[in-house]
Amino acid sequence: MTAQFLSEVQAALGSAAIKTAPADIEHHAIDWRKRFFGKPLAVIFPANTEQVAQVVRLANQHKVALVPQGGNTGLSGGATPDASGTQAILSLTRLTRVRHQDAANKTITVEAGVSLQRVQELAEEMGLLFPLSLGAEGSATIGGNLATNAGGTGVLRYGNARDLCLGVEVVTPSGEIWNGLRALRKDNTGYDLRDLFIGSEGTLGLITAAVLKLYPRPKGVMTALVKIAGPEDAFRLLQIAQSRCDAALTAFEYMSAESTQVVIDHFPEVARHGAQIIGGMTTDASPAAASGKTSARSDCVLMEISHAESERAATALLESVIGSALEEGVVLDAIVAQTLAQTKALWHLRETITLGAAEDGAQVKLDIALPISALVDFIDQMNTEMLSAFPGVRLHNFGHFGDGNLHYNIGAPRYLAAGKSPEERRKIYLGYVEENEQAIRRLVHDRVVAMNGSISAEHGLGQLRKNEARRYKTAIEFELMSKIKLALDPNGILNPGKVL
Ligand code: FAD
Ligand code: MLT
Ligand code: ZN
Repeated sequence: MTAQFLSEVQAALGSAAIKTAPADIEHHAIDWRKRFFGKPLAVIFPANTEQVAQVVRLANQHKVALVPQGGNTGLSGGATPDASGTQAILSLTRLTRVRHQDAANKTITVEAGVSLQRVQELAEEMGLLFPLSLGAEGSATIGGNLATNAGGTGVLRYGNARDLCLGVEVVTPSGEIWNGLRALRKDNTGYDLRDLFIGSEGTLGLITAAVLKLYPRPKGVMTALVKIAGPEDAFRLLQIAQSRCDAALTAFEYMSAESTQVVIDHFPEVARHGAQIIGGMTTDASPAAASGKTSARSDCVLMEISHAESERAATALLESVIGSALEEGVVLDAIVAQTLAQTKALWHLRETITLGAAEDGAQVKLDIALPISALVDFIDQMNTEMLSAFPGVRLHNFGHFGDGNLHYNIGAPRYLAAGKSPEERRKIYLGYVEENEQAIRRLVHDRVVAMNGSISAEHGLGQLRKNEARRYKTAIEFELMSKIKLALDPNGILNPGKVL
């Protein structure tokens, strides 16, 4: 069956479009965090939408499961096949055409395999902005961004991937092509199929192209790093910033001291650049600095303000926020990046947390959302409960505080690996995480759900959280989702074992 499938795919697409040699497919078979190890039958690389549809039709005929994959940067194991050797990965990375650019309509239509960074560059060439932004943007694809409804650092102002997409082209699980590439901001003509496919993590259809929404480029974008005493002051700072800036506040990222420690430990050069700026932070204006309250390691907020008119206007707005916050004793100290290089160094520090954590070793990775009004209570209560249940764990939490989205990550106790080599350390941390992961997840997720939150804000369920989701979703919600899956994909061809 599978051999026949492969030979028919080869006949249709050509032999260069299929890879089966272990060395060629290994990096497609493991997820970015190296927590899921699959054994794919093959990796198939169609070159266009029609070829995607051909592969899906053959998969139906031969009952072969397909696992869609873009840049393979997902953090929930959604793009990794199981270990049966019967599932084929369908890579969308050869679909890289830019189909249409319409500066007047502020839209761009690209195929699924175009990287997020390329779309940002194309938008810039058009004098516009594509505001989706995340650490993996060099490798992550637009198809993957939409399939996971990715978030990132610009959600506060511009929304997540769903909010930035006007239309999609989809290959259905039966191999038909639906051209829903509408470039309309309003369209009330029945059920919203586009939104059904966005965020479905490759279980309901293959996104092959999309119409993306662009924005005017702000003339002034200013960034500040602000030291705070803790989450409560992050919340108070957010209130001040939003009341003064409203939509001009374009990013508000919280970084606990423990979360930046992994950057200091494993990417010292990145930390050094950040630290040079942080080192120059103390200002005469700061009462905290005068009282000596600032320390090298503290919780921080990275705050960005964008202004349509000018850099000067953005700076004035940012300084007025910081001024009020200093007066109210909300911040310990703050620095506004003065050059592009400083701005980049600060963002680099923030974006390197994930790499630093990966280098450190395994962690329990969480991606929770709460009403913003409940975040501070959550962190306070959860930190206490966590440290009492799992003494010595590191509270690596950081994230998109302004959206109510925290990566409340938990690292193994540092003392476990004191004096060990990096290799031994990673082995010890992995052992700890494997032993305690389920209990830690349960502790956090129970509290999150009790406080009306979500167990995944932006990374999706994939295979990492699908059992958890089953536990927390009501029977009716789960049943409705299952019915939709069955109606669209009766043979269970697309990404089985994920989400549901
Ligand atoms: P993949 O990993 O290849 O796939 C992800 C899921 O989408 C899988 O279920 C797959 O089956 C499905 N899929 C992929 N392409 C298609 C398609 N064309 N049609 C249908 N299904 C498809 N995520 C955030 O939301 N916010 C962040 O801030 C963020 N930061 C990150 C930082 C780092 C360093 C890393 C490694 C990851 C980060 N991520 C973040 C997670 C990840 O980058 C995003 O989820 C991204 O959107 C995935 O894109 P991808 O092309 O790599 O998809
Ligand atoms: C981020 O916000 O940096 C990403 O979502 C990645 C992560 O959670 O590590
Ligand atoms: Zn994130």
